[in-house]
Formats: sequence, C-alpha cells, structure tokens
Amino acid sequence: MRALVSGGAGFIGSHFAKRLAAAGENVVVFDKLTYSGNPANLEGADVEFVEGDICDLDALASAGTGCEAVVNFAAETHVDRSILGASEFVETDVLGAYALVSWTKEAGIRLVQVSTDEVYGDVPVGESSSEDDPLRPSSPYAASKAGGDLQILAAVRTYGANASITRGSNTYGPNQYPEKVIPLFVTNALDGEPLPLYGDGRQTRDWLHVDDHCAAIELVLREGGPGEVYNVGAGEELENRELTRRILELTGADESLVRHVEDRAGHDRRYSLDSSKLHGLGWSPRHTLADGLPETVEWYRSNRAWWEPLKSGEYLDYYRRQYAERLT
Ligand code: NAD
Ligand code: DAU
Repeated sequence: MRALVSGGAGFIGSHFAKRLAAAGENVVVFDKLTYSGNPANLEGADVEFVEGDICDLDALASAGTGCEAVVNFAAETHVDRSILGASEFVETDVLGAYALVSWTKEAGIRLVQVSTDEVYGDVPVGESSSEDDPLRPSSPYAASKAGGDLQILAAVRTYGANASITRGSNTYGPNQYPEKVIPLFVTNALDGEPLPLYGDGRQTRDWLHVDDHCAAIELVLREGGPGEVYNVGAGEELENRELTRRILELTGADESLVRHVEDRAGHDRRYSLDSSKLHGLGWSPRHTLADGLPETVEWYRSNRAWWEPLKSGEYLDYYRRQYAERLT
C-alpha cells in the first residue's frame, strides 16, 4: 500500500510513519513543518518527504498521486496556544480536515482522521465517553478538532466518503514537543527549572503510550469501517499532581521546583474513554505508565541534542507569554 501520512513530521505522526514503513508499506510524509514539525523525527526513516499544507488541494493531489490511503495527524495541537489565539487552529483543524476529505472522496482514497478525546469535553468521575456521545468541546483547540470530525462524518453520509475517525487520549513518549506537560516537566526538571502545575493539580488525564496509539490507528486504517469512530484510551488515569510527583522521582529533581500557578482557562477536569469498540477489533494497550514513563524520562535524559535546540527562539516567546506572569 502507498499511504500519505499528513502531519507525519510531528510527534505521533512520525512514530506512525516509521511504523507503517517498517511494516513494508510505501509512505509519503506530507507536512507543513510548523513549529512542532521536525525533520529530525524522521531521521533514518524509509519514507518520502513532501513539505506542504493540508489546506492546499493541488499540493495534496500532487503528493498523493498513487496513494490508496491518507492518515491525517496534521493539526494545531496545543490547548494553551489555542487559548492565546485560535485562527490557525480553525484553518488547519477544520478547513484542513475539510480539504482532505474533499480530495480523498473525489479520488476514492481511504482516510483516517486522528482526533482526540477532548471533543467530548470533560467527564464526571465514574463515567466514560462513548463514540456516539454528544460533542461538548471546551477549548478553541477541541472545538476545532470537533469541527474537523463533523466535516468528515458529513462527507461520509452525504458523499459516501471512505473515512474513519480515531479519538485518542493524552499520548506520551519520545519526540514529543516540549510544550506538552510530560516533556515540559521532564526537561524543566532535568534543567532545574520550575514545573508550573495549573490550579490544584487534580485534573485527570488518561495516559496512552505513543506506540499503543499508533497500533490502534494502524488497526483502524486496515479494519475500520467507513463513518465509524473509535475511541483509543489505555485506562491509565492519573491526576496531574501524581504525574508531577513521579516525574520528580524519576528525574531526581527537588520538590521545590513545583510551582502551583494560575489555572488554564476553561480547564477540563477529567477525560475518560470507553474503548470497548476498539477492543472488539482486537486492540489492547501493551504499555502501562509504570513502564512507559521511566522509559520516556530516560529518552529525554539521553536525547538532549533533540530537545535543547527546540527550547529557543519562538518557543521562548511562547513560554514567556504563557508562563512569565504565572511564575512571578
Ligand atoms: P504535533 O503538534 O507534534 O504535530 C503536528 C504536525 O502537524 C506537525 O508536524 C506540523 O508541522 C503538522 N502540521 C500542522 N499544520 C499543518 C498543515 N496545515 N498542513 C500540514 N501539516 C501541518 O501533534 P501530535 O501531538 O503528534 O498530534 C497529532 C494528531 O493527534 C493531532 O491531530 C492531534 O489532535 C491528535 N491527538 C494528539 C494527542 C496528544 O496527546 N498529543 C492525543 C490525541 C490526539
Ligand atoms: O487528551 C488528548 C489531548 O492531550 C490532545 O488532543 C492534545 O493535542 C494534547 O495537547 C493533550 O491535551 P492536554 O491539554 O490534556 O495536554 P497538556 O500536556 O497541555 O496538559 C496535560 C495536563 O497537564 C492538563 O490537565 C493541563 C496540565 N498542565 C499542562 C501544562 C502544559 C499543567 O498543569 N501545566 C502545564 O504547564
């Protein structure tokens, strides 16, 4: 199979592109190389690379010549950045998804859209989101992802597009841009910098190892049905304050680095997914946080050359906007 992996120079997309190539598939990575896209993530991978924007139909058609499938990871992905301003989120996450499904349905190409548990909004303790639950996104990021999902589902119903959607939970592992909480806290702890814990630190996330997330997406690509949505959660729920405690322990950093700072606006309290539909296709996670987090911390400890250059330039401007006031 020849497959186009859009957003394949980012965190999850690069793991997925390498996985598909290792399975013997012919992979074209198509990526705009925004601040979180990084060619170093694909070093040594047996893939073709094309720089381009998923909103550009001509560029898609040219890069996708001969492809039977598209798996879309391309998105603006960081909630805090979406709160500072969301126009790029609407462009890529809504209009980009619309462009992709418009092109793939015309060309008769299968599409898998990688979406998120955040589209359901937060979930009370004791409950979990099912695929047919209403969408109640809280952040501009989540609202944009929900808009993309709805465009794709509408194209399936109206035009018979062959598209499926995955909705994954918080993903972690090597090569994650150091704005998300695990790589941010790990790299800050390794450098003796503060760990800015939002609010009371009791928000809960369900942590999914990147390899498990990619295995689920590959299964949906090969066996998922058109118009079907699949939740992907590992059932590894943890409060942020406990996650922070484990990061301190694993990095050997001092507890005094933890700073309780002003909360994220509109902060979702808890996500939780019912992933039984995907289990029915044969997926189950292989990693737990008990093994995945120490391995991930070790990767950041051993790969300073990957993340140190990222914490400069535009990153520092963003960091100041997001944290300077919170940390004074
Ligand atoms: P990331 O920010 O690391 O990577 C996003 C990639 O998309 C980058 O390589 C970037 O250059 C590229 N990109 C952005 N705009 C583009 C455009 N217009 N055209 C082409 N490429 C573009 O993101 P990630 O964490 O790897 O997330 C990948 C996907 O998975 C996203 O759709 C996200 O919503 C979803 N997701 C992420 C998580 C998570 O915890 N990270 C969990 C569930 C779902
Ligand atoms: O749930 C899936 C989503 O997970 C993906 O769709 C998003 O692309 C991805 O960014 C992630 O969203 P979150 O907002 O949950 O991830 P983040 O790493 O930003 O934050 C995780 C938790 O940690 C959240 O409760 C906020 C908290 N946090 C985060 C940062 C960056 C802090 O307390 N301090 C911080 O500095």
